[in-house]
Amino acid sequence: MNVNTIRDMDVKNKKVFLRVDFNVPLNENRIITDDNKIRSSLPTIEMLMQMGARVIVASHLGRPKGQPNEKYSLEPAARRLGEILGKEVLFARDCIGEEAKRVADSLKDGDVAMLENLRFYPGEEKNDPDFARQLADLADIYINDAFGTAHRAHASTVGVPGLLPSAAGLLMEKEVQYMSKVVTNPVKPYVAIIGGAKVSDKIGVIENLLDKVDMFLIGGGMANTFLKARGFDMGSSLVEEDKVGLARETMERAEAKGVQILLPSDLVVAERVAPDAPNRVVASDRVPSGWAAVDIGPDTARRYGEAVKNANTIVWNGPMGVFEMETFARGTETVARAAAESDGTSVVGGGESAAAVKKIGVAEKISHVSTGGGASLEFLEGKSLPGIEALAKTPVGV
Ligand code: 3PG
Repeated sequence: MNVNTIRDMDVKNKKVFLRVDFNVPLNENRIITDDNKIRSSLPTIEMLMQMGARVIVASHLGRPKGQPNEKYSLEPAARRLGEILGKEVLFARDCIGEEAKRVADSLKDGDVAMLENLRFYPGEEKNDPDFARQLADLADIYINDAFGTAHRAHASTVGVPGLLPSAAGLLMEKEVQYMSKVVTNPVKPYVAIIGGAKVSDKIGVIENLLDKVDMFLIGGGMANTFLKARGFDMGSSLVEEDKVGLARETMERAEAKGVQILLPSDLVVAERVAPDAPNRVVASDRVPSGWAAVDIGPDTARRYGEAVKNANTIVWNGPMGVFEMETFARGTETVARAAAESDGTSVVGGGESAAAVKKIGVAEKISHVSTGGGASLEFLEGKSLPGIEALAKTPVGV
């Protein structure tokens, strides 16, 4: 990554504006139900503290539409960060103005503060120069650790790094290293597992990886559209009728390039998409009328698992079935375990597949589970992410 990282920066005695992605899920009592995003930025926060920086942590949470809204307050995240660090984290009830300045100026070397939600101001999402200036005025140095927000050209991801000496945090560095490895520098054999509901959500990834992978394993709802393109009757399964032609063309182009696209040979089908619905395993060309595919079948899971185990590079985006329902999670589970057992580099991108590997309990055995949903998808599509581009504008070594 040809940008500065925190290791290149002299942060001692300096106020550091640290953009993180603490967009964590909260329940109705505003209790954080998964603090993975907070924990993922700990190495950066702890390193900055050890280096003697005065750390001003900034993030968005949810989509409050440019207005203050208690429901989206970052106070629970500040509290959780304090608990994990075992140290008080001051909380500023605003991200700009007097309150933010007062809190930022009160910090001593090694102290940490957190600002209120950046999206309480419309200037954040509009990348308003005035708002960016007010954020930049709080600090001397800018560090971006928010890979999950790197696909957004907002004031805190693009505006502020244009105004301060900037660098990537350790999470951002790790995310970019792993994602780049699978997008530009994969060791072969390279297998991409692509799932999720819709072809339209993943076609950009398939197109970008078409010249790079040896094999695609297609699962989830999107496999139905591919199977329909093969001429199969999919019963009442989710099929994107307007994407059947695209699926057919994609298979033809892959064949011409010598890239294999594996489709399910069998499926779990159910009378309804409900955990208690009658279900059974059928060959993919035998979906009963009125029944819907809800998971890849055991034969497919075994074939996909074998392909994954033999790969040196594995990228996975999108579950193989309706994995949130225990009964239809077997296919996703088998593939996740195979990726975990592989000796190759395995990268899981995308919110749902990341959730799946955690639920199944194999996240620790995956080389890298991305914290980015939309961001990792855009990275895999080969797009350049504005938050990363912006860091590249600070000359390396500054
Ligand atoms: C995410 O959760 O994917 C990131 O925090 C980005 O959130 P956004 O889609 O609301 O910009």
